Amino acid sequence: MIDKDRMPASVAIIMDGNGRWAAKRKLPRVMGHNAGMNALVEIVRHSSNIGIRHLTVYAFSTENWKRSSEEINGIFSLLVKFVDSKLEELDREHVRVRILGDYRKLPEKSVGRLERMMERTENNTGLQFNICLNYGARDEIRRAAAEIADLASRGEIRGEDVTEELLAAHLYTGKEAVPDPALLIRTSGEMRLSNFLLWQAAYSEMVFTDVLWPDFTPRELERCIEEYQHRDRRFGGR
Ligand code: IPE
Ligand code: IPE
Ligand code: MG
Repeated sequence: MIDKDRMPASVAIIMDGNGRWAAKRKLPRVMGHNAGMNALVEIVRHSSNIGIRHLTVYAFSTENWKRSSEEINGIFSLLVKFVDSKLEELDREHVRVRILGDYRKLPEKSVGRLERMMERTENNTGLQFNICLNYGARDEIRRAAAEIADLASRGEIRGEDVTEELLAAHLYTGKEAVPDPALLIRTSGEMRLSNFLLWQAAYSEMVFTDVLWPDFTPRELERCIEEYQHRDRRFGGR
């Protein structure tokens, strides 16, 4: 059983394994992404119910452009379908959706839906659901450095003013007030970060599960939280 008094306030998930899920069933990869989207809907609902405050999911990385245009366009069409079919419910459940990453590089139609979803849920006070799209942690840190360099060149700050807090405030997560994830989950058995939240995950507890993302259920999320609750978080102390 999970301890409701010791919930991780901020949870991040690398939703991996959609392609392998489809391959196992001899289906096209896009069908795996479609199944993954259905799994995500259940996880958002459950996260909201069990009192997680921030759910941050990795949906499309800056490296995922290397995939076939068929797969990429399939993913972006699913985003449109997601907004068209789920925005009402998300709003009703008081979910606030934010997009992290350079999402404006996506096709116009997807960008329009994403902006509609953010505007519509802007003032909601329930779960903050952060979707990372065209997100890469190195790109995020590079952008923060560039913004800070501009401040310095205008004479607004000096090197000594560049604190960890200042840098963090210039990350996508800082702008959207997302706390560092207490728990970071990756599905599908891969044990790497793949350019996700490199700065923010400095002290995250990581849980890796072999379950492929489309098979990830609310029960499996609770199992990951249980594992997190058994960890001893020391933050370098003793
Ligand atoms: C994760 O599933 C979703 C995205 C990266 C968009 P994958 O598509 O990476 O699935 P596998 O790793 O090939 O099984
Ligand atoms: C990470 O998964 C990106 C997302 C889940 C969106 P990948 O499948 O792209 O990562 P690698 O290539 O296995 O490292
Ligand atoms: Mg993968």
